[in-house]
Amino acid sequence: MPAPDIRRYHAVAISLHWLIAVLIIANLAIGLLFGYMARPDRFWFMQLHKSFGITVLALTCARLSWRLFCKPPPEPASLKGWELWAAQAVHVLLYVLMFAIPLSGWVLVSSSPLHIPTVLFWSIPWPHLPFLDSLGDAKAFSHQAGEIHGLLAYGMIGLLVLHVGAALRHHWTLKDEILFRMTPAFLEHFLRRLRGEKA
Ligand code: HEM
Ligand code: HEM
Repeated sequence: MPAPDIRRYHAVAISLHWLIAVLIIANLAIGLLFGYMARPDRFWFMQLHKSFGITVLALTCARLSWRLFCKPPPEPASLKGWELWAAQAVHVLLYVLMFAIPLSGWVLVSSSPLHIPTVLFWSIPWPHLPFLDSLGDAKAFSHQAGEIHGLLAYGMIGLLVLHVGAALRHHWTLKDEILFRMTPAFLEHFLRRLRGEKA
């Protein structure tokens, strides 16, 4: 039986999706490990964390701008009713957090009384947001921003469990075409072989 014709996302959208995904997952891991790091390591990983985070912010702007100009493929025909609604709700919330998490991190470091500079990938000085360090109680404000940053990151982990769980369920249990919509065409053959199809 010939493989069905898959309506994929554009290669640009697919590349941005996976690049952003890798950076976010790395940043969640680094953030959760901060507490276990000794001082010099923590400082090094903090610069990496901030560099990845600001890159996510920039790439998410690019991803959404691209989405405005190049429409995503039509909704998958296999999804009906609540499934479609749930998938769209999770996607919208993911986009919200892809902005809110890096922005709250930026607010947190900008208002911190420690005034530690951000240098992206140890080469590009990145400014702090203006006025935040001159607030009456910048320390308390920065602490609050840190709490919010952490809570949003935990929210992202919850959404990813749903998002990745759904993608894997479609691929391995329902054996439909959803995952192929977001994977490069050259990987389709390999992924089909992996789930035991001739392709
Ligand atoms: C931090 C990690 C991730 C983030 C932030 C993320 C975010 C998103 C977003 C926002 C969309 C909607 C795209 C749009 O319509 O504009 C999407 C689609 C998609 N994602 Fe992810 N994703 C992540 C990781 C993953 C992983 C690990 C998988 C697979 C195991 C995956 C599989 C998919 C698939 C298959 C779609 C297309 C769904 C459709 O058919 O419309 N994602 N992702
Ligand atoms: C993809 C984006 C990001 C993710 C997923 C992320 C995730 C996290 C996580 C999980 C933590 C640990 C929270 C906790 O244990 O309560 C953390 C801490 C932190 N993040 Fe981020 N972060 C991101 C972007 C940023 C950015 C852009 C900055 C600054 C420019 C930043 C600055 C910080 C700082 C300073 C801490 C330590 C806070 C503290 O010790 O109280 N993060 N982040």
